[in-house]
Amino acid sequence: MKNIVLTGFMATGKTTIGKNVSKIMSFGFIDTDELIEKICGMSISKIFEIHGERYFRGIERIAVRRAARLKNFVISTGGGVVLNPSNIVQLRKNGVVICLKARPEIILRNIGKSKKRPLLLQSDPIIKIRQLLDERQHYYKFADFTIDVSDMNVSEASVAVIEAY
Ligand code: S3P
Repeated sequence: MKNIVLTGFMATGKTTIGKNVSKIMSFGFIDTDELIEKICGMSISKIFEIHGERYFRGIERIAVRRAARLKNFVISTGGGVVLNPSNIVQLRKNGVVICLKARPEIILRNIGKSKKRPLLLQSDPIIKIRQLLDERQHYYKFADFTIDVSDMNVSEASVAVIEAY
């Protein structure tokens, strides 16, 4: 069966919902950010701090290619995977791409005090979230389905993903 590929902005619940969907479907689960951390042997924020975003995007590309070769997997992607159109082409070869979206206030709430998102650390997070959402709006459109999970809990969102699939 085709993979279920979850795209979408940071903190829309891709990993939590993806893990739940993988259990329900008896699929494997992989998160491209976790794969990047394994490849580099350091956290995402350390990679940004030491090597910068450009380097990170290069490793992200490698992680996406590895994940795209899998079968019967839920693949949760980092929020910036869509910025490179060839990443989506790879993931689509054997996957249905489902984009999760949420309102900026929900994203902010989900992020909480987590320091895991280096791109949001520089300035007022809600302003940065709105700015990045605006800049990336176009890229998130390259999905087979889009689901607004703002008012859904994990079970509801999982059902919506499986129905779309
Ligand atoms: C990023 C999203 C993050 C992570 C990195 C960059 C982005 O993943 O890949 O911090 O550019 O949107 P999550 O979407 O899992 O937070």
